[in-house]
Amino acid sequence: MSTSIEVFVNSAPVEVKAGSTAAVAILVAGVDAFRLSPSGQPRGPLCGMGICAECRATIDGVANQYTCLRLCHPGMRICTEVAAAGAGARGDARESGCSE
Ligand code: FES
Repeated sequence: MSTSIEVFVNSAPVEVKAGSTAAVAILVAGVDAFRLSPSGQPRGPLCGMGICAECRATIDGVANQYTCLRLCHPGMRICTEVAAAGAGARGDARESGCSE
């Protein structure tokens, strides 16, 4: 039986199983655009093993963390670059930022 923990993705609480990566937490939150390419195209995890860099996000205030390599801990705060930029993934105004 696995334990659930609560983390925050773009300021919203999300329950994930202990041992989940931050990338999983972002996807469980329903966010599929982690960051934007230089031309503005949405990007998300591709390799899942720390090579492609498409999964980067801010974790506990530290930018450019590879979310596929970081295990969640209770209270972890994950902010996608899309939300941090205020662009809002898929045009959703609820994902306008990571401020408290
Ligand atoms: S998904 Fe490729 S580095 Fe994280």
